[in-house]
Amino acid sequence: MSLPDLALPLVKKLPPEAAHTATIKGLKLGIGLPNIPPSRWNTPVKLPRSGLQLWNPVGLAAGFDKNADVHGPMAKFGFGFLECGTVTPRPQPGNPKPRLFRLNQDQGVINRMGFNNHGLDYFVRRLRRQPPSLTCPVGANVGANKSSADFIGDYETGIAAVYPFCSYITINISSPNTPGLRGLQDKAALQELLARCGDAQSTAQSALEAEYGDSKNGWKPVFLKVAPDLQIQEIDDIIETVRGAGSWLSGLIISNTTLDRPEILKSADKDQSGGLSGAPLMEKSTEVLRAFAAELIGEFDLIGCGGIQSGADAYRKIRAGAHAVQLYSALVYHGASLIARINSELADCLKADGFSSVEAAVGADLSSPA
Ligand SMILES: Cc1cc2nc3c(=O)[nH]c(=O)nc-3n(C[C@H](O)[C@H](O)[C@H](O)COP(=O)(O)O)c2cc1C
Repeated sequence: MSLPDLALPLVKKLPPEAAHTATIKGLKLGIGLPNIPPSRWNTPVKLPRSGLQLWNPVGLAAGFDKNADVHGPMAKFGFGFLECGTVTPRPQPGNPKPRLFRLNQDQGVINRMGFNNHGLDYFVRRLRRQPPSLTCPVGANVGANKSSADFIGDYETGIAAVYPFCSYITINISSPNTPGLRGLQDKAALQELLARCGDAQSTAQSALEAEYGDSKNGWKPVFLKVAPDLQIQEIDDIIETVRGAGSWLSGLIISNTTLDRPEILKSADKDQSGGLSGAPLMEKSTEVLRAFAAELIGEFDLIGCGGIQSGADAYRKIRAGAHAVQLYSALVYHGASLIARINSELADCLKADGFSSVEAAVGADLSSPA
């Protein structure tokens, strides 16, 4: 057990946001970190459209390391990839506190943080300091400032700024805590967003090639992160729109937090406003993943996120069509040693069902796998 895991019972006694701040501070100090190579479990996977190569398919979801402060230390827990952000062009404080709640009895979390972050300048400075020892891809999740008059312009600014310094980019239009943001998932708005972000990606790539030559810095994949709160018609519209976007878009991350409050919730804070994540999100986010995968598998790279607590959960997302998975909320309850456990359980699940690779299991539960 690493020192951060030994400190978990103490950290859990703090209010949730103070616990998170203490964890980030502890990670920055770097005391007692393990050093688990992400290759330990022999479950490498290549995401076919983006070309991303991962030593294992288990990633850290956005929101834990909003300012790209601790991707170096977090890499030591054995993650296959890490995602920093959401970062907005200008720093912003986020919503008033309290804005983060543990749903202990439900193993869930509700947050209405509202993209609190130090802004792009700080984020890029931190990304540039990426330790040479970092063994896994680091993605940058970009968003829009709450007070912005042009949300799409903020994504263009974000893509241009992070492009040279990350392994991939996520366009996050699915946070429920910035009023109007999820409206970018609507067909006409999404078409405009993707057209302008595609141009931003291509301009950023040209600038990179002009500066370094194309051999050193390759093309950076871009993913779109969607909400789980989508009707069938909305899913169909998103599918049609991403198909029309062009080859620059690599895939989807499915999903962000939900505004739903399932009846099974028991915790005192279950009616707090904000996005619900953790165990109560597993079913819903996997259903939405399956709906997208039924159409898009083999065409786009899909990353499954929402409610993963175990290797069996990660395996379910892979069988539902994900090439890779991400998690955040389970770390609140189980600490970062969970990553080693999930990876080892996932390797066991693959072996038990006779799959010789992660790729072989992707979409196994769909009626017409790719
Ligand atoms: C406290 C908190 C903050 C989050 N902040 C972000 C964010 O800034 N950007 C984002 O794309 N997702 C954010 N998320 C959503 C997670 O990345 C993830 O999509 C969601 O929590 C579902 O995964 P989980 O059930 O494993 O937590 C946040 C989640 C939590 C719990």
